Amino acid sequence: MKSLTHLNSYKELHNHFLNVKDIHMRDLFKEDQGRGTRYFLETGDLKLDYSKNRINDETLKLLFNLANECSLKEKITAMFKGEKINTTENRAVLHTALRNQGNYPIKIDDMDIMPNVREVLTKMQNFSDALKTGAWLGYTNQVITDVVNIGIGGSDLGALMVCEALKNFGHPRLRMHFVSNVDGTQLQGVLNQVHPETTLFIVASKTFSTQETLTNAFTARKWFLEHALDEKHIAKHFVAVSTNKEAVKEFGIDLENMFEFWNWVGGRYSLWSAIGLAIMIYLGKENFSSLLEGAYLMDEHFYNAPFEKNMPVLLGLIGVWYINFFDAGSHIIAPYDSVLKYLPKFIQQLDMESNGKQVRKDGKRVDYDTGPIIWGDVGINAQHAFFQLLHQGTHLSPIDLIASLSRKGSLPGHHEILLSNVFAQAEAFMRGKTLEEVQKEMSNKGFSEDQIHKLAPHRVFSGNRPSNIILLNEINPKSIGSLVALYEHKIFVQGVVWDINSFDQWGVELGKELAKTILTELQGKENHDHDSSTKHLIQIYKKANLN
Ligand code: F6P
Repeated sequence: MKSLTHLNSYKELHNHFLNVKDIHMRDLFKEDQGRGTRYFLETGDLKLDYSKNRINDETLKLLFNLANECSLKEKITAMFKGEKINTTENRAVLHTALRNQGNYPIKIDDMDIMPNVREVLTKMQNFSDALKTGAWLGYTNQVITDVVNIGIGGSDLGALMVCEALKNFGHPRLRMHFVSNVDGTQLQGVLNQVHPETTLFIVASKTFSTQETLTNAFTARKWFLEHALDEKHIAKHFVAVSTNKEAVKEFGIDLENMFEFWNWVGGRYSLWSAIGLAIMIYLGKENFSSLLEGAYLMDEHFYNAPFEKNMPVLLGLIGVWYINFFDAGSHIIAPYDSVLKYLPKFIQQLDMESNGKQVRKDGKRVDYDTGPIIWGDVGINAQHAFFQLLHQGTHLSPIDLIASLSRKGSLPGHHEILLSNVFAQAEAFMRGKTLEEVQKEMSNKGFSEDQIHKLAPHRVFSGNRPSNIILLNEINPKSIGSLVALYEHKIFVQGVVWDINSFDQWGVELGKELAKTILTELQGKENHDHDSSTKHLIQIYKKANLN
C-alpha cells in the first residue's frame, strides 16, 4: 500500500485543509441553520452531535474517500471474519466474537470459536450465580462478601471501569476491590479491609507472567494461608482468568477454577471475555448479557452502516482530520457523570496502546502522526481545573463530552445543572468571545476606556475549538457496552488509515526487560553495566536500604 501521504484523497484533503483551516465554526453555523440536526447521529442507546467540528460537507466527502482508498470496508470485514490482522503476532482479533449474538460460526483457521466462547460464558454464569445464591461458600462455609481482582492494564482497567460505571446495578452484598500496582500499599490497603474467610481473589492475567500481578497474587495467597493454614482451602478463594493453563497450574490454582480466554483477544479489548468475570459477579449474568448486547449492537452498526451514518467511522475520521492536518496531538475524554470516572483512563490504554505506533504494517517508518495522547477527567471537575487551557491556551485539543440524558437516579435539580454545563462548554468551545463582544460587555458594565483597553484581551476566547457530544439515553449495561465498542472501533478506523498494527504492544517490552535486570541489582544479586545516571540511582537505592 502507498504511504498515507501519497494517497490522492490525502492530497485532496491537504488542499482542502489549506482552504478551510481559518473558517470559524461560528460562520459555519450562521450559514447553515440545519447544521446542528444534520451533523447528528443516533444508533441504539447513543446519540452523537458532531456539528461542532471544523468540517463541512466537502471535508466529510474527502474523509470518506480517504477511508475508501485505505480499504476500510474490506479491513472491517477482515477483522470480523477472523483474519490474522495482528500481523506481528500472527493472531486474529476477535473481541467482536465474544459478544456475537448471531447464530453463525466465526472461524479461525477453519475452526469455529463460538462453542468455546459460549462454554466459558456459561462457566462464568454458573460461577457468578453460585456466588450470589451462596451455593459457593468460603472454606468456613460463609458467603463471599468481597471480591479482589488482581490484574493490571487490560486485565484491570476494563473491569474496574465497568464495575464503577454500573455500580447502581451491583450486588448489594458484594464489595469489589481492584489491585494493580505492585507498590505494596494498594494490596495492603485492600487486605486490611477484607477477611480471608469471605474473600474471593480473581487472578486476572492473559499471559499469567506479568510480574506485578503475580507478585500481588503470591502475596495475597501467603496472606490467605497464614489464616487458612491448609492449601486445600485455596480452591474456594482463588480463581484464575488466563490464556495460559500451564502457568495457572504452576501457581497452584486448580484448572477447574480457571476461566479461559484466547490469544485472539487483545488485553485492552478483553473485558467481554473471562477477564470480565469481576463484572459478571458484581452485576449478575443478565446485566453482563446486556453489556455484551450493547457492544454487539455497535458491532452490527459498525459493520453495516454506510460510512456517512457510521458513528465509529465518523469519530475516527474526524480525529484523523485534527491529528494529521491541524497537528492536534492530544484528545480529551470528559465524561459528565462521576460513575464514569475511570472511562478516560480506560480509553487512554485502549487508544494509546493500540495506536501509539511509529511504523506501518510493512515495518517502514510513518511520515505522519499517529495516535494522539488521550487524557481527561470527569467533566465538571475538569472545568474547574484544566479547561482553562482548552479555552484560552495555545494548543488545539479536541474533546469528547459524554453524558447521560436521563436524570433517573439523580437528585432534584442536579441533572439540569450538569447537562447545562455540557452544552455550554461545547457552545463556548465553538463560539468563543470576540474582542468586540468583550469590549461591548465591559462598556455596558461601566468599565472605563483604560480598563477596557488593558483587560479586554484577557477576556477574549478565540473559540473554533472542536468537540463531540456523546449522549447515552441513560447509563446502563447496554449503553456502556455500546459506548466501549464505539471507542474500540473508532480506534480501529484510525489504525487502518495510519496503516499500523493496532493490536500489538511491543512498546511496553523494553522497560519490562530492563526492570528484570535492575531488580537483580537492587536485590544485590548481580551487577550490570548501565549509563551513569542509572548506575547512580541503583547506588542511591542500595544506600537508602542498607538495613
Ligand atoms: O504491559 C502492558 C500489557 O501487556 C497490556 O497490554 C496488558 O493489558 C497488561 O500488560 C497485562 O497483561 P496480562 O494480562 O498478561 O497480565
